[in-house]
Amino acid sequence: MAVRVGVLGATGAVGQRLIQLLEPHPEFEIAALTASESSAGKTYGQAAKWRVNSPIPDDIAEMTVTATEPEAVPDDVDLLFSSLPSSVGAEVEPTFCEDGYVVSSNSSNSRMADDVPLVIPEVNAEHLDLLEVQRDERGWDGALVKNPNCSTITFVPTLAALAEFGLETVHVATLQAVSGAGYDGVTSMEIIDNAIPYIGSEEDKLETESRKLLGEFDGASLTHDEVEVAASCNRIPTIDGHLENVWVETEDPLSVEDAKTAMREYPSLDLRSSPDQFIHVFDDPDRPQPRMDRTLGDGMAIAAGGHRESTFGLQYNCLSHNTIRGAAGASVLNGELLLENGYL
Ligand SMILES: NC(=O)c1ccc[n+]([C@@H]2O[C@H](COP(=O)([O-])OP(=O)(O)OC[C@H]3O[C@@H](n4cnc5c(N)ncnc54)[C@H](OP(=O)(O)O)[C@@H]3O)[C@@H](O)[C@H]2O)c1
Repeated sequence: MAVRVGVLGATGAVGQRLIQLLEPHPEFEIAALTASESSAGKTYGQAAKWRVNSPIPDDIAEMTVTATEPEAVPDDVDLLFSSLPSSVGAEVEPTFCEDGYVVSSNSSNSRMADDVPLVIPEVNAEHLDLLEVQRDERGWDGALVKNPNCSTITFVPTLAALAEFGLETVHVATLQAVSGAGYDGVTSMEIIDNAIPYIGSEEDKLETESRKLLGEFDGASLTHDEVEVAASCNRIPTIDGHLENVWVETEDPLSVEDAKTAMREYPSLDLRSSPDQFIHVFDDPDRPQPRMDRTLGDGMAIAAGGHRESTFGLQYNCLSHNTIRGAAGASVLNGELLLENGYL
């Protein structure tokens, strides 16, 4: 029997991707769609300006959107995927968890809380058991798990692949697609023929979330990794796919071939949305590129290439699809991990 799920913030850019991934998903059945008061009471077809690259499913278009509050969601829904603005998520996600719902969330609120697991399943699936601590401390029947920021998800798997060499310092510069800002985030007059070297709070997210993801969970508490990370974030006029330039200094010597092998051999998982090959490594120095490589592994893979030795350690580029692997797909994968680990 499929688990009944809901989407909080279902009408937005990430909410639509969630519906695109969940509607055909054999383990999940969409049973609730929520959004703001201005959408509540409308059919989903009326409330959402559908913009993803597949037709809106008929049964979803006819569902009624409700307000984002626990009373509006049926009791037999077990799992909620949240793609709310973070200020709204901060207010309402805990109320759903108190009411017994398990929430797999994209929003940035609570990502760095000590008792909230921040998870990329291939990197730190064991952090999910922090939910036992969370339930003890908060007295929740439900639970809250987060996926990281879209640009964090792009480079952390490549760091995890290199961790055996002893990570010391990481510098990362991002070239981020406009969809990462949501539909109303960046106007065409701002971004066409341009690049914007500022994305509010983004650098801090890469610098802190990466250390939490690479940290150690001992069954009671989480210690963040000590790797030093410095980030610089830029918005560029691509639609989807965040490209990042990374420099990594390690304790042990790290050659180009060692790095490529470690990335190629870094394992994927057996979860339903896992890509067969988690990190695709290109030998061609001008790949990966957003338009050509963002849909590798149905948008769930990470791509890396351009490896070279530099003055500041090993240099390479990496890429992922920001609204699939970096947002909706990341939440769905965490939902699959919750199911596999008996949290639903
Ligand atoms: N876009 C990305 O690539 C990306 C990547 C990673 C994480 N995220 C995070 O995911 C979240 C959603 O991003 P997005 O790009 O999908 O945003 P978005 O397109 O602006 O969508 C926001 C959604 O939240 C709903 N909402 C807004 N205010 C609300 C309120 N007061 N109460 C209840 N619902 C409300 C909206 O409903 P209405 O339609 O009714 O207004 C809509 O469904 C954000 O926290 C963002 O930081 C985004």
